[in-house]
Amino acid sequence: MKTCILYAGKYGTTEHIAKMIQSKLGNDAVLINLTDQKKPDISAAERVVIGSGVYMGKARKEVRHFCKTRASELSSKRTALYLCCMENVEAEVEKYFQKAFPEAVLSKAIVHRRFPGALVRSQKEGWMTRAMFERMRQTNAERKEPVEQWVAAFVETITR
Ligand SMILES: Cc1cc2nc3c(=O)[nH]c(=O)nc-3n(C[C@H](O)[C@H](O)[C@H](O)COP(=O)(O)O)c2cc1C
Repeated sequence: MKTCILYAGKYGTTEHIAKMIQSKLGNDAVLINLTDQKKPDISAAERVVIGSGVYMGKARKEVRHFCKTRASELSSKRTALYLCCMENVEAEVEKYFQKAFPEAVLSKAIVHRRFPGALVRSQKEGWMTRAMFERMRQTNAERKEPVEQWVAAFVETITR
């Protein structure tokens, strides 16, 4: 079954998670960066994974726009959603999901879950972002979140 993994991020973590998902799904999973491909053809996909980073409470506009304009096409597919963010309080993360995805897309998704933010560092960091990332790196180290296990469970849910 073909899967399209559509994502948009800025500093690399959303892409990193997308690649982890792809490697667990195998050859039939295609990665599509929505920043480069604004109108991807997903007609052959039976499964669609959509991921975004969160910045000031919002998902990337490419993801919000894609889900808004392609909601009816998505309704015919098995969809799974993820956000990469530092927030880990469930109720707050839920608000991010509600803001990022149209109700029709969110309610139909087989699974939606958060993965930790700031797992990888990028050259795009300015000095302020670098300081923020340093703090986030410490937070990640303190939390010791089992990302690999979470990605495996996420993939398991969508392949069931
Ligand atoms: C400018 C900026 C704003 C951010 N705002 C939030 C936020 O509002 N809530 C949150 O939970 N995480 C926030 N984060 C953490 C990001 O969601 C996290 O670094 C994530 O990995 C970004 O995805 P990316 O690496 O694919 O760009 C922010 C990070 C940056 C750099």
